Amino acid sequence: MKKIIFTLAVSLVFSASAFASSGNEVEKQEWSFNKLTANWEKDKIKRGYTVATQVCINCHSFKYVSHRNLMEVGFSEVEAMAMAATMDTKINKPLLSALEPTDAKDSFGKIPPDLSVINKAREGGADYVYAILTGYPEEIPIDFEGANYNTAFAGHNIAMPAPLSEDLIEYEDGTPATIEQMAHDVAYFLQWTAEPELLKRKKLGTYVLVYLFIFAILAILVNRRIWARLKK
Ligand code: HEC
Repeated sequence: MKKIIFTLAVSLVFSASAFASSGNEVEKQEWSFNKLTANWEKDKIKRGYTVATQVCINCHSFKYVSHRNLMEVGFSEVEAMAMAATMDTKINKPLLSALEPTDAKDSFGKIPPDLSVINKAREGGADYVYAILTGYPEEIPIDFEGANYNTAFAGHNIAMPAPLSEDLIEYEDGTPATIEQMAHDVAYFLQWTAEPELLKRKKLGTYVLVYLFIFAILAILVNRRIWARLKK
């Protein structure tokens, strides 16, 4: 037992220091999907989808996401089909960028990664994506040499030009499209595309904990009874 605790403690310290020493600014945000009782919120998914399909898809693909997947979070088939139609695609087709990898390489020097599971692929997940999208300061260090300065990106030199600007898009629900709002919504959307089962798993975890708690209390009560009888 001591050994296990020791190993746990050591790995905790190591992972914490690895995170701190990367030198990039990734602040923790408040995410409603972190709440134990959360469900995926249709309105947020819709806003994140809007950012993803009006902005990000110009360069990035979402090859594991199709409009049919939207039906898992409360969109009807008719709604999903209508959304696919506005993008000139079919409900079962993956969301692919029209930008060819070779053209991307010519324009940016790098190929934009597929974003379907980016929240799992990068340390920090949604916090990281949010930090990247909001990490283009107005004033950059005078000695910076490179493509674009980004406070969250490793080495601060990122090939992606700042993709968001105030009121870049218009939300159907009237939410003001600030950079922070769009960054939050699309990072939320990408959490869903990366881990659609996350909230189910969390709820299951909670049930298991409650069950174990009740079981522990029962065990204590039974134990007491047995000893009470023995002492008599
Ligand atoms: C004009 C093209 C373009 C647009 C639009 C664009 N990106 Fe990118 N993105 C890139 C390129 C190029 C890279 C590769 C950057 C690098 O490795 O230096 C990248 C990289 C990224 C990364 C990965 C950073 C990493 O750790 O490797 C994330 C996350 C990302 N983009 C998110 C987004 C999101 C979300 C949107 C929509 C709001 C978006 N991008 C819009 C071109 C774009």
